[in-house]
Amino acid sequence: LAPLHDLAKAAGKQYFGVAVDTNELANATYKVLLDNTHLFGQITPGNKMKWDATEPSQGTFTFSAADALVTWAQGNGYQIRGHTLVWHSQLPSWVTSGAFSNATLVSILGNHVTNLVTHFKGSVKTWDVVNEIFNEDGTFRTSVFYTTIGETYVDIAFRAAAAADPDVGLAANDYNLDYGGAKMQAYVTLVNTLKSRGVKITQIGSQSHLIVGSTPSQSSLANVFATLAATGVEVAVTELDIRMTLPVTDALLAQQKKDYYNVVAACVQTSGCIGVTIWAYSDYYSWIPSVFSGQGAALPFDEYLQPKPAFYGIAEAL
Ligand code: XIL
Repeated sequence: LAPLHDLAKAAGKQYFGVAVDTNELANATYKVLLDNTHLFGQITPGNKMKWDATEPSQGTFTFSAADALVTWAQGNGYQIRGHTLVWHSQLPSWVTSGAFSNATLVSILGNHVTNLVTHFKGSVKTWDVVNEIFNEDGTFRTSVFYTTIGETYVDIAFRAAAAADPDVGLAANDYNLDYGGAKMQAYVTLVNTLKSRGVKITQIGSQSHLIVGSTPSQSSLANVFATLAATGVEVAVTELDIRMTLPVTDALLAQQKKDYYNVVAACVQTSGCIGVTIWAYSDYYSWIPSVFSGQGAALPFDEYLQPKPAFYGIAEAL
């Protein structure tokens, strides 16, 4: 297997990374490649740092699952991305109940962010401070935070994170930035607006949950990455997968290889793009089939952990 992380470093990137979850580390066969630091040099916990996992009831913080992932990752020398502090999804019902006043929810939000960033200080390199805050048209997504606090909830989250760890990277993360439309522009505006208010933000994360045959060209993607990076922040591809309508065919696998090549090559050619993370490495653990009915096979290894053409597309791009 081509050493993707080593190749990424040689190409001037910080890492090639992968999302990891607790159940995956318990699978000894799957873990062999997760332990391979030449393939991967960065990990993102897939679920265990989310609000429902870390503050399931108000003021009670549970870090044991995330800590176990962090301990394993540090043992391998992996860079760790914190995912995610504030998101409308995977919230415990005590938060979504909508029963809080503006002032109370501001306090709850600040407390959550402060506790997580403090707990993982020195372990997490960059946090996804906010996740998926915009609609496709660039307006703010409705969430308990937006509805109760208004758009300054974003400032509050970033300020609390920066105060808890002045050295940690602070990202806004979202999907469908790849096409360069209103949503991507909203992130350009967000960075400029936050900076004008003296709020620190260091990175935009492009999730890049993409579709075989509908993935933008290398030059289009490079334009998007360069446009985001021109605001003065880093860009990272944070959750890459490229799904297809099943069943798998040789033609779809060949197209998927080209699509993976385009995304990774676009990051490589853009100086502001620091690295690429895939959202698990094998189709066996992909989230896609459970969310997008009839679709799947989105990752560079098949469900038997064998490399697909997409794997070689990534290696060629690095
Ligand atoms: C997904 C996880 O992979 C699943 O296990 C979970 O059931 C739902 O969330 N965007 C994100 C990620 O930012 O947190 C999501 O992860 C995938 C979409």
